[in-house]
Order: sequence, then structure tokens, then C-alpha cells
Amino acid sequence: MTADQLAALCPRVQEIAREAGAYIRNERKAFDHTTIESKGRNNFVTHVDKNSEQMLVNALAPLLPGAGFITEEDDTRERSADYNWVIDPLDGTTNFIHGIPCYCVSIGLVSGNESVLGVIYEVNMDECFYAWKGGGAWLNGKKIRVAATKSLSESVVATGFPYDVGTHSHAYVQVLSELLKTVRGLRRIGAAAVDMAYVACGRFDAFYESGINAWDVAAGSILVQEAGGKVSDFKNGTDFIFGRQIICGPEEVTGELSLIMEKHFS
Ligand code: IPD
Ligand code: CA
Repeated sequence: MTADQLAALCPRVQEIAREAGAYIRNERKAFDHTTIESKGRNNFVTHVDKNSEQMLVNALAPLLPGAGFITEEDDTRERSADYNWVIDPLDGTTNFIHGIPCYCVSIGLVSGNESVLGVIYEVNMDECFYAWKGGGAWLNGKKIRVAATKSLSESVVATGFPYDVGTHSHAYVQVLSELLKTVRGLRRIGAAAVDMAYVACGRFDAFYESGINAWDVAAGSILVQEAGGKVSDFKNGTDFIFGRQIICGPEEVTGELSLIMEKHFS
């Protein structure tokens, strides 16, 4: 798709994200904890995640006939060899359940291994972040850029703790220990898509996480790239959408982070 076609598509995708966000905001008011289901240790799903996903799929399908879907709550959806909508219908489910005000809808459009359009709607702050390839990155109508930070020592770095922390727990603790001695601050806000949106607008300097899924990072990666930042896997390579590892931020900072990741994750 051309930049003009993506630009034409983006406003409707924002509306769709906002509609799902309005549904999530309303559901939170009378949230019933007995409806929570567990998908694994510390990994929950509610009827709100599932209904939001169905709303998004129904609304996005007619926009791009032939595009497939990769979504967090249903792995039986049809995928395409060409374009796929990669969706997290409620990123930050644990925050949502606990009433911690940081959760969002994340919609990415991915061609092969490359994200070409992304919309992240953070429900509580009513902030819609969006970007498309060649069109820049935006927050509620204003252009955004990553921070101008040149070194890790000046950086506030966000991360997430994977649910299956057992696999890499030693490496994760080693990285945290090294970063605590190096960075200005470390944050864990509980929604990877929001972490990446905040990197795109310079609130966070950088973000990294291992064990992450495509629906957590598909929208955020094009946002950070179009905001002038670098996105990579832990080896400074390009396998970050489906490779379950991500680093993003200004180029100098991601370079320093990837050296630390390579040392501890083999
Ligand atoms: C999770 C959040 C969290 C990140 C996890 C994700 P969910 O998504 O983005 O910040 O650390 O890796 O799975 O379960 O809230 O949609
Ligand atoms: Ca998620």
C-alpha cells in the first residue's frame, strides 16, 4: 500500500480504536471480578478483552478485504500471506482488572514482518497515538518525536516482566541489576503498547522486553520508527514483531541497550 492509501485508512482505524476504548471505559465502571479467566500464571482474560476483540475484528474486516487477523484472544482467525491486522483488544488487562488507569487498544497493520500502520488508544487519558509508513507519528493531531537523548545514563527506561518469567528469570534480573546502576530511572507500567507509545512521544526514552507477542508491539513499532526512533530485537536485528524480543528508542540508546541484552540473553 502507498503512503497515501495508508493515510486515507488511518482516520477510520482511529475511530474504531476509540469505539472499542469507549466500550472498555464503560465496562470498567461496573466491572465484575467473577468474570475473570486465567490463561496461565498471572495471565488473565475477561469478557471485556473478548468483546473488544470481536468489535475490532467486525469493524476492521470491511476496511481491507482479504487482510487476515492475528489477535491476542483467538488464535483460530484466518491469516493472510499479505496484510494482517495484529490486534491487542485490551493491552494492560491486569491494570484494567485492578483499576490501575493505564490500558489501551492496540491495532497494527503488518505486511510480512513489517508494520505499516499503527493505532494505540490509551483509554484513561483519552490519548490516540497513530502512525503510518511515510506519514510520521501523531498524538491527538499533534506530531510526536522520540526523545533527543543520546545515552542510557540520561534515560528513563521502561520494561515489562514476562508472565513466563521462569524461562529467562536469571537474565532478566541480571539486566535489571546492570540498568539500575546505569539509567536515570526504570519504569514498569503494565501495558507494552503504552510503553511504546510513550517512547514515540519522548515520555520514556527507551523500552525493552523479552517474551513479548506480536499484538503487543505491532502498532508501537511503526509509531516509534515514524517518530524517528530505532526498533530492534536483542541482537540489534530486525526480528522484533514475531521474534518475542524488543528494544526501542533513540538510536544511540538502543545501541547501548542491545549490548547489555546480548551479554545476558544468549
Ligand atoms: C501484557 C502487558 C504487559 C507486558 C506483557 C503483556 P496484556 O499484555 O503489555 O505490560 O509486560 O508482556 O503480555 O496481557 O495486558 O494484554
Ligand atoms: Ca498485551
